Amino acid sequence: MFRLLALLLLFCSPAVGEELSPVGKLINLVHQDCGSCHGLNLKGGLGPDITPHSLTQYDIETLSIVVLDGIPETAMPPWRPIMSEKDAKRIAEYLLKGELK
Ligand code: HEC
Repeated sequence: MFRLLALLLLFCSPAVGEELSPVGKLINLVHQDCGSCHGLNLKGGLGPDITPHSLTQYDIETLSIVVLDGIPETAMPPWRPIMSEKDAKRIAEYLLKGELK
């Protein structure tokens, strides 16, 4: 929770805008912050397994919307407040392909 707060502060700086975050930072966020619910290796915890073989029903577009808006009535939170649409697409790409270039 505290980490989320720190992230919020970090992302609220005026410089964010349309800028793309560095790859390392995005991957870190996925494993640390998504990992706090989905497991550090993303194989599930409070939230389900989100490694590529579990997400075959998604394309990048749809998956990025899930990340941005969360899943209503569940613990899956919306990330739009602290994440640009571009970063969400990059994260979706990372989740689907298991790598980010
Ligand atoms: C507070 C806990 C929590 C955090 C943090 C969290 N999630 Fe989730 N997530 C969940 C839960 C719970 C579900 C399952 C919701 C449901 O019952 O459908 C879920 C579902 C999902 C799904 C849908 C999986 C499927 O099989 O349809 C994706 C994709 C996902 N999360 C990605 C992410 C990403 C990416 C992040 C980080 C940016 C993240 N989550 C952070 C709790 C969390």
